[in-house]
Amino acid sequence: MSLKEVDSTNTFLKNILSNSKPVPEGTVIMAEDQFAGRGQRDNTWYAEPGKNLTFSILLNPTFLSAQQQFDLTRAISMGVYDALYPLLRDNLKIKWPNDIYHGDAKLGGMLIENILQGNHIKHSIIGIGLNVNQKSFPPGAVNATSIKKILQRDYELKNILAEICNHIEAYYLHLKAGRIDFVRNLYLSRLYWLNEQRRFKSNGDIFKGVIKNVEPAGMLVINKSGLEERYNLKEIEFLN
Ligand code: BTN
Repeated sequence: MSLKEVDSTNTFLKNILSNSKPVPEGTVIMAEDQFAGRGQRDNTWYAEPGKNLTFSILLNPTFLSAQQQFDLTRAISMGVYDALYPLLRDNLKIKWPNDIYHGDAKLGGMLIENILQGNHIKHSIIGIGLNVNQKSFPPGAVNATSIKKILQRDYELKNILAEICNHIEAYYLHLKAGRIDFVRNLYLSRLYWLNEQRRFKSNGDIFKGVIKNVEPAGMLVINKSGLEERYNLKEIEFLN
């Protein structure tokens, strides 16, 4: 379904589900304009109306336990990555946990909101924002880019959406078939700054370290002065 304007496609899907209306698995809600798009860490997500992809997909991965939520994040990140790889090639990376990067600039991100039932995921609302045809970005904290800025031409949003959905489906089926290690290994191999000596900030402390791994549940493992330290999203910042 394509909406002209909505607060947030994630919120839209959440509201339908909370009214106990049945929504078929695989439903995609896209919006030309989101006036209250939400990002990670309670950020807002801004996208120029009509230029970019802002959409949410409903999945019901009841076969995943609460402890496996990060495997879904990996699968979705890899789906987006593979869909864009033919266009953007090796400059494309996944910045932990699930940002899509080209070089050192952010091309897109995702907000995955899982609704749990007991120890299993009942519904997963997968919100994806991808900068496609936007030419300029307001000066802000994040160094943003778009496919147009990189490749100097416009792209049909619906075509890119279809590619992303197809690749996400493929990775979803890998998870469903239990090919968890396959997804984990691919995700790790596509990580931004993997095995590179870089600067990070945690708890006010700026240090050099090397990303070595992502634990099954999603904690980032950084080798800091010979010791392996683990961080969650709120505990670590990447410093360029
Ligand atoms: C981030 O990088 O901070 C995540 C951005 C996620 C944005 C998408 S746009 C579609 C969906 N609806 C929202 O309100 N957010 C997600």
